[in-house]
Amino acid sequence: MCNVINFYINGCQYKLPIVYGTFCEKAINISKLRENTGFITLDPGFKNTGITKSSISYIDGEKGILLYRGYPIEEIINKCSFIETSYLLLNGELPNPTQLKFFSEKIKKYNHVSQDIHKILDKYPVFYHPMGILSSLTCILRSFITTKKNDNNNHVKEQDLFLHLLAKFPILAALTYRKKVGLPPSYADKNLDYPSNLLKMFFSTNKKKYDEFNPVIIDALDKLLILHAEHEQNCSTTTVRLLSSAHSGLFSSVSAGICALWGRLHGGANEAVIEMLENILKSGKNVKKWIEMAKNKKNSFRLMGFGHRIYKNFDPRAKIIENIAEKVIRELGINNPILELAKELEDIVMNDSYFLEKKLYPNIDFYSGIIYQAIGIPKNMFTVMFALGRLPGWMAHWKEMRLNREPIGRPRQIYVGYKKRKIRN
Ligand code: CMC
Repeated sequence: MCNVINFYINGCQYKLPIVYGTFCEKAINISKLRENTGFITLDPGFKNTGITKSSISYIDGEKGILLYRGYPIEEIINKCSFIETSYLLLNGELPNPTQLKFFSEKIKKYNHVSQDIHKILDKYPVFYHPMGILSSLTCILRSFITTKKNDNNNHVKEQDLFLHLLAKFPILAALTYRKKVGLPPSYADKNLDYPSNLLKMFFSTNKKKYDEFNPVIIDALDKLLILHAEHEQNCSTTTVRLLSSAHSGLFSSVSAGICALWGRLHGGANEAVIEMLENILKSGKNVKKWIEMAKNKKNSFRLMGFGHRIYKNFDPRAKIIENIAEKVIRELGINNPILELAKELEDIVMNDSYFLEKKLYPNIDFYSGIIYQAIGIPKNMFTVMFALGRLPGWMAHWKEMRLNREPIGRPRQIYVGYKKRKIRN
């Protein structure tokens, strides 16, 4: 394998080192390019830019492969829980039974939040979007985690901070949901596993006790969390890494990741998919008209839940999610016109030359909203559910940045504004 690439600029020869990944992915290391040639590279949207070396996950977008720490997603989904997956992402290996017990018990020990968080939440206007609430509560949550009273320096071990966040994140999400629907808080139960606790904290009321929750739903929720747990350099994870590079704290970095995820081209797409499907239904189910609209370059509308920067064949997560959606709908005996419509839309799109040529396939967000809706989670909480799943991935990247002692992220730009000028007197 060649370790150097020769290239010419204006007749002068230069050499740049080549970097190889585990699966022989190739990169040209251009970190000295400007120093040696005066040139920088320009790549809006980082479409062809590797920003780091990472050992957390691997994607082959052409073949539809996704590995978490080397394990195929299809295997993880059948053999691991979300908590085991979180341990794997954070620590690099699956836990042995003792490690798993310790990890799970710590999460149970930390699954409560200060009453001050409840008071702060009460002050938010009820119409404020849950992603905004989750982001700001996550940022301030760190102030309430101390080893002892009046510990102004907040000395908490880093490993414990990861566990605090894993434990408290679902509480923030559930409190936000319950405030929206006017329910009092429902606290975590130390006898329940992670997804059951999540359902209890979201949905239990005097009438509905959490032991009534259906095991198929609990399993579906755990699998959804796993599928969302990690996806290398997407917009929110890169945001978290960028903050970590500036030595911003874990909680503030995750808070920034939540805001990035909120965007409709990223995690916010799951909410947008259901809105789109509802609009298609409302407007007489003229699917072809909507597809034509998405293909028309004069129209800014895009088919939400289709296309991916990396997957150009199929999204392996979307295949798994479609099966989970069908299982949940069957189990609940729901006759869901939205699911029917989603299938019809997918069938038409998958036979349309525009989408085939541009390699636009359903992504993870196309079917996830259908499951959340069936479970009873409102539309504006869908992206919060995505964030709950993505948390261990964000934390693993934040940690990897620190361990690798990566430099602060600071790209360059090509300035195209005014030349130097003077303010007229
Ligand atoms: N509907 C119609 N046309 C599309 C779509 C779509 N959903 N997605 C991409 N295109 C077209 C786009 O107009 C462009 O056409 P042309 O080459 O003629 O200009 C071409 O396909 C390539 O698109 P792009 O925007 O350059 O691709 P990208 O890699 O920059 O964007 C994407 C990827 C996911 C933002 C985009 O496909 C999209 O907007 N999809 C809809 C939103 C969505 O579902 N997002 C969730 C992504 S998966 C979950 C996650 O990781 O966040």
